[in-house]
Amino acid sequence: MHSKIVSGFSKKNKDQKINWLAEHYFENSTDLRQEFQQFQHPNQEQQKVFDGFSENTISNFILPYGVAPNFLINGQTYAVPMVIEESSVVAAASSAAKFWLNKGGFSTKVLSTTKLGQLHFSWDGPSHLLEDHLEKIKTRMISDAQPITANMERRGGGIRAIELLNFTEEEAHYYQFRVGFETCDSMGANFINSVLESFGSSLKQYIGEQENWQQYSIEVIMAILSNYTPECVVRAKVSCPVEELANACEELDGAAFAEKFAKAVRIAHIDPYRATTHNKGIFNGIDAVVLATGNDFRAIEAGGHTYAARDGQYRSLSHCTVEDGHFNFWLDIPLAIGTVGGLTKLHPLAKRSLEMLGRPSAEELMQIIAATGLAQNFAALRSLVTTGIQKGHMKMHLMNILNFLKATDQEAVAIQEHFSDKAISYNGIRTFLEDIRRP
Ligand code: MEV
Repeated sequence: MHSKIVSGFSKKNKDQKINWLAEHYFENSTDLRQEFQQFQHPNQEQQKVFDGFSENTISNFILPYGVAPNFLINGQTYAVPMVIEESSVVAAASSAAKFWLNKGGFSTKVLSTTKLGQLHFSWDGPSHLLEDHLEKIKTRMISDAQPITANMERRGGGIRAIELLNFTEEEAHYYQFRVGFETCDSMGANFINSVLESFGSSLKQYIGEQENWQQYSIEVIMAILSNYTPECVVRAKVSCPVEELANACEELDGAAFAEKFAKAVRIAHIDPYRATTHNKGIFNGIDAVVLATGNDFRAIEAGGHTYAARDGQYRSLSHCTVEDGHFNFWLDIPLAIGTVGGLTKLHPLAKRSLEMLGRPSAEELMQIIAATGLAQNFAALRSLVTTGIQKGHMKMHLMNILNFLKATDQEAVAIQEHFSDKAISYNGIRTFLEDIRRP
């Protein structure tokens, strides 16, 4: 057990790291180094950039980079880059994009762009002192942070609001400054965190300077942005007369399809178990574009799920109504993303993704991402309420099995024909392949 503990691992070079792992954590390590090495970028300078994103890197982990074309968003067409390992997701987004192409496409709108940060602190003096001095404290914090905010202000952003919140009933002496920021085209995490840390120092200084406050103590607990951004929200919507949904499936007419679809969305509002899967489908699309454009998908997921539970119960992020013969399907989602800075500049494919999307502003990218999430949700529900999800999934699953079993093109055709009316399973396909491979 203890022989598997290491100190100074980060100081080892890549080969030494792999050798150490081979010795301690792998039974068969003959090809290990070569296996990790084959996914390294051939250009050493480029590999250095990738290594720099994280720590203790020994290789790169490759994911598929796909494209969903034919997205009509506010009258403009996009080919949307998607990085995702799950089969059917890109196909589903593409098919939904095409479905809505001749129905006006997606209309999207940024509802708000304020990002939030929090300065958490303890103060054991009377609350009214903080409240009485609030304006002076704010002025001091803002003025001390000027060197950090000046550049962002020139770009049209900066600090938008500072609110003092009193949580002393839940936790003795605990207060918080909740701060609103506009970070323009950047995600703004570094900017927000730097400003908040500066606020913390200013607050301590201000309190330390007050003559009669010496008997009270202040402790800055932490300063960090919030990944919950309910004031940085985008809406994506599709709508059409129900008759235009006639081509959504073979088994239902447009009106019946619309009703069944809307019911499926209502179920995801009623039941958190369904809502979780429903929203997971939305994030299949959202995360894939977030990742392809070098943004932080964990932040987006965390904020999105909190938003989905904002009334106290976890619910669907999308909504659907069928009114006066009209089908309306839309998604509201917080998306705190950026198109400048961070990985967007450093990752060569993130850069290409943004180029593919026409070098969008953060607001434009929010709209493209939301439209992809809605498309994904539409495609999933369309399958679920009609053919069932497995039909499409199994087709893709079959391709993965064929690849895994190294089936030739000829064998693949034979297998596809044989299984066209049968349940697809790994064992079934392997046995069939063994049979046809037998001389
Ligand atoms: C699978 O990754 C996503 C779905 O489960 C979404 C849904 O059920 O709505 C198909």
